[in-house]
Amino acid sequence: MSSAIFYGSSTGNTENAAKLIREELGGKDVIKLFDISTSGVDKIKEYNKLIIGVSTWGEGDLQDDWDEIFEEFKNIDFSNKTVAFFGLGDQDSYSDEYVDAMATLYEVVSQQEGANIIGSWPIDEYEFDESRAVVDGEFVGLALDEDNQSELTPERIKTWCSQIKEQIL
Ligand SMILES: Cc1cc2nc3c(=O)[nH]c(=O)nc-3n(C[C@H](O)[C@H](O)[C@H](O)COP(=O)(O)O)c2cc1C
Repeated sequence: MSSAIFYGSSTGNTENAAKLIREELGGKDVIKLFDISTSGVDKIKEYNKLIIGVSTWGEGDLQDDWDEIFEEFKNIDFSNKTVAFFGLGDQDSYSDEYVDAMATLYEVVSQQEGANIIGSWPIDEYEFDESRAVVDGEFVGLALDEDNQSELTPERIKTWCSQIKEQIL
């Protein structure tokens, strides 16, 4: 199997989203699921098609488990890998740094030549002031908000997965 989801989650929201994404893409038989706090960074290197999930904490900071391995993450060779991102955040309480952590991981990968990043997502249904995760008018990956728009999550995941499916499996 060449596809895997890696996530870090402090209160379970990103973990739940990761599991929904796996189900939507076809379940355990087609894509692996790893919690970055237990899998370690080297595991990422074993897969060529990656979905990376992260929540934002502090003020625009990486979720703790991603923060701990961030220096090692920067050393991964992403050339020839296909990568899609999803990020959890709170657009109302953190309106100036909504899903910024997704941008932090995205920037590492996008700097590398040959990395194929997919899964950008429109900003239309959201209300926030600023996000580093918006590039060229779109989120660099799927943005989710369990604090304010949890009712939209299943449909967002469904639509996003149908858009990336062919390239990520
Ligand atoms: C103390 C605290 C700080 C947060 N900081 C941000 C932030 O800077 N930007 C953002 O978009 N969301 C922020 N959030 C919202 C979380 O990212 C959101 O609740 C998310 O769903 C948590 O996902 P997790 O349970 O997978 O860690 C913050 C939440 C808390 C409680």
